[in-house]
Amino acid sequence: MTDRCRARPLAITLLSTLVLAASPATAQTDTTEAIVETMRTLAGKQKARPSGAKGQCVVGTFTPTADAKALSKSIVFDKPSRVVARFSVGGGNPKVADATKTVNRGFSFRIDGGGKGQTEFVMINAPINFVKSPEQMLAFLQARLPGADGKPDPEKIKAFADANPETTLQGKYLASKPVPASWAGLSYWGIHGYTVANAAGATQLVKFRMVPVGGETGLTDDEAKAKPADFLVDELKSRIEAKTAAFDMVAIMGRAGDEKTNATQQWVDEDKRPTVKLGTLAITALEKNETCDGAIFDPLTLADGIAGPDDPLFTARLPAYAISIGQRN
Ligand code: HEM
Repeated sequence: MTDRCRARPLAITLLSTLVLAASPATAQTDTTEAIVETMRTLAGKQKARPSGAKGQCVVGTFTPTADAKALSKSIVFDKPSRVVARFSVGGGNPKVADATKTVNRGFSFRIDGGGKGQTEFVMINAPINFVKSPEQMLAFLQARLPGADGKPDPEKIKAFADANPETTLQGKYLASKPVPASWAGLSYWGIHGYTVANAAGATQLVKFRMVPVGGETGLTDDEAKAKPADFLVDELKSRIEAKTAAFDMVAIMGRAGDEKTNATQQWVDEDKRPTVKLGTLAITALEKNETCDGAIFDPLTLADGIAGPDDPLFTARLPAYAISIGQRN
């Protein structure tokens, strides 16, 4: 075993300990711990992530546009920088078939900002989340826990959905779209409303969206049925070789009165709003999965000039991911 291999689990344990020690033991931390525990139970106690369990690590380059600086002074918009990213298939099953329609696809990435201003996003291929708060997430998961017969109770799941109709919206959105044909043929959204600040101190509410440069691609149900269980990595490999695995990062402009703490809702007319292209993220190579598995993608790591919302659904993500990495390694 090399020193590097030995150091990794120690670093991970320290990360979990530091993040958790920094958070006072509140009802919120109890909820976050219970969420991760319930996710693990539902995922069958496997060793991979309990969400986005199946995935592929990649590397690339983010090249900002000149327009980005007018919105945000963040160092990631200064010049091209290196990216480590991970595409995933949602849920806690590391063997889920790539053509599964009912789960989301994830895109997590770290823009390194020349080593001086890391910025991380953990996005999905839907503009909305399935719950609006950590408490609702816990209740959503608990409603799916198996009963004495080892199976989830459909009555319980229905009763939860009836009482919390907004938790059905993301599933309806995904069901209305074709099965993804490629990780690089999808739009991904950061979902939360972020505030960007430029060098003059002007601020703007935005949502971040990654738009595939080659357009969105989907499979018919028959095409999806004919696909092998693990086609997404090979498909990505051929796009990388053809240099067509790239996304434009755009900022969707927020306005006064926009909702900031209910991620189950899009803003009014969000899809028709003006956007500003902030840069292009080109995926340049597959990377060994250990590179992504040895750390978390932390949506709260944002270089000065980009700030996340004061929303418990957003702030719970760092402690949740820190607990999770401690358990999955
Ligand atoms: C209270 C809110 C949330 C909790 C508790 C939570 C929990 C988790 C956990 C425990 C993991 C596994 C992390 C790891 O082991 O590295 C995870 C991964 C993930 N989550 Fe969340 N999550 C939350 C909100 C969200 C939201 C709003 C999104 C969508 C924008 C999201 C998208 C993802 C994705 C794409 C992954 C896979 C990450 C990767 O590729 O490494 N999560 N989540």
